[in-house]
Amino acid sequence: MDIKLTIEKAFPFVSEEAVNAYKEQVAHAQQLLHNGTGAGNDFLGWLNLPEDIRPQLDDIQATANLLRQKCDIIVCIGIGGSYLGAKAVNDALLGSFAWLEQKGPQIVYAGQNIGEDYLFELQQLLKNKRFGIISISKSGTTTEPALAFRLLKTQLEEQQGKEEAKKLIVCITDKARGALRTLATQEGYKTYVIEDNIGGRFSVLSPVGLLPIACAGFDIYQLIRGADRMRQLCDVSVPFENNPAAQYAAVRNVLYQNGKKVELLVNFHPKLHYVSEWWKQLYGESEGKDGKGIFPASVDFTTDLHSMGQYIQDGERHLFETVISVAKPNHRVDFPFNEANLDGLNFLAGKRVDEVNKMAELGTMLAHVDGGVPNIKIEMPELNEFYLGELIYFFEKACGISGYILGVNPFNQPGVEAYKKNMFALLNKPGYEAESEAIRKKL
Ligand code: PA5
Repeated sequence: MDIKLTIEKAFPFVSEEAVNAYKEQVAHAQQLLHNGTGAGNDFLGWLNLPEDIRPQLDDIQATANLLRQKCDIIVCIGIGGSYLGAKAVNDALLGSFAWLEQKGPQIVYAGQNIGEDYLFELQQLLKNKRFGIISISKSGTTTEPALAFRLLKTQLEEQQGKEEAKKLIVCITDKARGALRTLATQEGYKTYVIEDNIGGRFSVLSPVGLLPIACAGFDIYQLIRGADRMRQLCDVSVPFENNPAAQYAAVRNVLYQNGKKVELLVNFHPKLHYVSEWWKQLYGESEGKDGKGIFPASVDFTTDLHSMGQYIQDGERHLFETVISVAKPNHRVDFPFNEANLDGLNFLAGKRVDEVNKMAELGTMLAHVDGGVPNIKIEMPELNEFYLGELIYFFEKACGISGYILGVNPFNQPGVEAYKKNMFALLNKPGYEAESEAIRKKL
């Protein structure tokens, strides 16, 4: 079994012919990816990661085992592509209340914001605790994680001494450039390399995602097996009609051309919230440029049916939905019969809670399609490492194809620099004197 894409519920809004008309363009996009002849072709290392990463898996697992032995809390520092993939997989696999249980080390995240209260509260949490740090930054110069790393490294050294702290810090950064590489080399930390040809948002199947996932106790070998399986299913040699990444890329571009400018990634499984956050970065940063691109948004159902449901059913008709459906839950809860039936719920007695959830899912899809919202469905047989690996690679491959169809470079993110330039100018960072002067005139 594999994850399965269904696009029939998009057909009331786009014709099968319109999707098939993208066959040529998809083939061209696939060629650009596989021959490395498109824009951003120096960032295609993710395409073969499921194979290329295998020789590193044992070493990553050994480092994770060591950190798991020595730490009660492991802090993953990183932002954007340097944390979202790991957070997505870990949250999808962790028990919903794992943060209240003390089974193995807890993973917490830092460097993904500059909230002073967040950092204060983290420092309080880590006080006198056995903690370790995984510091992740490809460039090694990103402000948010660098700031968090300096704070937490200082705390760790104060609590454990410099020598012991050294054994509890792992850095993941590029081969040679950037402050984090220099710092790690000088301090003698264990490091992993993010290859130059792998961009942040395509890096979850590299040490960037794999070490924090292994630290949380999940099976990185299965994750990679799943990704590799999807690599084969989406390969350039697989015909358009049977190739899930090609189909998804084509149908979302047809919808976009038909005025559906916003794609909502939908789940009916609260643990998938961060999968949507990861996906939003992947598609938002890859496609949103040159004045173009579907706006990627997300909702968690049924929760958000009680907040966003009205708009989706009845608001501006520029939406389509991509629903991630999990066929089989990992646990079973049967709904009980009650003699008094004061809540009137005996019609559900004997059913599994998942049956109620599935009928909510089906009912929502039918209602939204009736309301003018095309639906695409991605069914995962179960929520486990293998199928998450499949899902990750599926979305990455489709994103590369889709970006090329749209006519953008899917692998750069020039727009992210604008806020940084202003922030550095406002903070009087050396080298930003001219920008400082210019920006102050605007205030
Ligand atoms: O996808 C990307 O390239 C970005 O989101 C980066 O991952 C993010 O900005 C963090 O960059 P870095 O890993 O260099 O700190």
